[in-house]
Amino acid sequence: MDQAKGLRTIVKTQAVSTREANMASKRKKLPRVIAVTSGKGGVGKTNIVGNMAVSLARMGKRVVIIDADVGLANIDIIFNLRPEYNIRHVISSEKSLNQVMVESIHGIKILSGGSGFADLTQLNEGEKLNLLSEFETLSDKADIILVDTGAGISSNVLYFNSACDECIVIATREPTSITDAYAMMKVMSREYGTKHFKLIVNMVDSALEAKKVYGSLSSALDKFLKNVVLEYAGHIPFDRQLQKAVQKRGLVMDSAPDSISATAIRDIADSLGNRPLRDNSNGNLTFFMNRVFQAVN
Ligand SMILES: Nc1ncnc2c1ncn2[C@@H]1O[C@H](COP(=O)(O)OP(=O)(O)OP(=O)(O)O)[C@@H](O)[C@H]1O
Ligand SMILES: [Mg+2]
Repeated sequence: MDQAKGLRTIVKTQAVSTREANMASKRKKLPRVIAVTSGKGGVGKTNIVGNMAVSLARMGKRVVIIDADVGLANIDIIFNLRPEYNIRHVISSEKSLNQVMVESIHGIKILSGGSGFADLTQLNEGEKLNLLSEFETLSDKADIILVDTGAGISSNVLYFNSACDECIVIATREPTSITDAYAMMKVMSREYGTKHFKLIVNMVDSALEAKKVYGSLSSALDKFLKNVVLEYAGHIPFDRQLQKAVQKRGLVMDSAPDSISATAIRDIADSLGNRPLRDNSNGNLTFFMNRVFQAVN
């Protein structure tokens, strides 16, 4: 069978029904794929992904991080890892996904995107087929997959957000971060039909301040995007300990596990990790990549 035909068969088989996937997810525990995104850059996505991953791993979850930031990807920096390969090597069949992923001391597997995710639109059918089958092998090796999407509302970020089961938006109290978070939800709901988001407010001084950010975002949504639901997932205080950890290429969860930011992130990870997979979620990585490709096309 030629590769293009192979891909079509896979896509067709996989697309046969969400119903089948849901039935499968009831039989077998499939990974939850969660996007962490923001609109505005520098609001804490990478640190939230990294520290949340550590908390989830300590809860006994098998965690994979996909670094889909095509800019200056830096999840490897805070884990103090230097991955030799990235998704490009999987696309070109030089390496398997397993060979490309690096493992942190916490047992978290990290897939570096490099600039490889930037050209998803350029992939030929054979390359897509290859990626699909590689991602399929990940399905029974992970409970939770966190996708660090990078900043902005470029189409690449949108593809990944739309392909994930859940979308966590990070905002700070800065007005530009709030308007960018709103813009992200607007474009996701209009262009990809995403109707449910979770919000984490980062770098605040108090819970009250975080609730104000949530309040202004939800009232804007109530007014202009009535069918979009924004769920408050928690807040993380501004914490110099987190900054010190970053300066040392590390995670606050390791260097200061009792700090205010580490405690807050652990609480958020606790409530997130103990939630069951949403009913309408496929939780399957082939579906995930298929959804990415569908968004791309
Ligand atoms: N809770 C916090 N308290 C204090 N500083 C923080 C906190 N969270 C993040 N920061 C600071 O913000 C910087 C940017 O964080 P991070 O790299 O995680 O953001 P990002 O959203 O991933 O950025 P980018 O959009 O560039 O990928 C960190 O290096 C750190 O100095
Ligand atoms: Mg980042």
